[in-house]
Amino acid sequence: MTSPLRTLAYRHRWLYDSVTAISAVAVGGVERLRDLGADWLAEAIGAGAIGAGASVLDLCCGGGDAAIALASRGFAVTGLDVAPRALEQAARRAPQLSWIEGLAEDPPFSAGTFDAVQISLALHEFTPEERRAVLVACHRVLKPNGVLVVVDLHAAKGVMALPQAVFCHLFETETAQMFLADNLGDQLEEAGFELVRSEVLAMGALQRLLARRQSVGHL
Ligand SMILES: C[S@@+](CC[C@H](N)C(=O)[O-])C[C@H]1O[C@@H](n2cnc3c(N)ncnc32)[C@H](O)[C@@H]1O
Repeated sequence: MTSPLRTLAYRHRWLYDSVTAISAVAVGGVERLRDLGADWLAEAIGAGAIGAGASVLDLCCGGGDAAIALASRGFAVTGLDVAPRALEQAARRAPQLSWIEGLAEDPPFSAGTFDAVQISLALHEFTPEERRAVLVACHRVLKPNGVLVVVDLHAAKGVMALPQAVFCHLFETETAQMFLADNLGDQLEEAGFELVRSEVLAMGALQRLLARRQSVGHL
């Protein structure tokens, strides 16, 4: 069931931004939150995993915040989202980037198109089956040895458990609960990725994972 607050937040940008700002406090603010994926992809360049100016698909890009953070690091960014309104907003903010309407489960790109894929704060919106389809699609559109960076919710314990439960109740659907119950690292490996690094942030409420596309022996 979708809460009315969630519907309102998706309709009114100021509310969405306010909720994001409050949620981002534990990670050091909105700028830091938006930069988490770009940060690790920039480090992947340093480690030789991808080249400077690499092509990056920002899957479920929304209004473009995390995609714009990628572009500011010199990546060649394509944003994809299912919501035309979000894409219009993104295009107004960064007309120089490519914004594509489509489904994350079946993105309209040939196999091996991108050096990297980012999924920021979106995988929890899918059922486990859809999530698997999204990860398999990421594997398909990545070049051999391409990398995937995921930033998303993590099941908090201790002090963040209650705020996270309240947040999910007010602003998420039941897919977020399913996501929190699953192990994303295992799902990445099932979809043909090798987990390179993972980190829990925001006092346990957020996770960031970097995985490399494996070429054979998956699925
Ligand atoms: C919480 S927003 C995250 C937006 C952005 N990645 C960020 O970090 O701010 C989730 C986004 O996923 C998009 N989305 C949900 N289901 C989708 C699907 N099946 N295919 C593509 N985008 C989808 C929504 O339209 C929304 O823009």
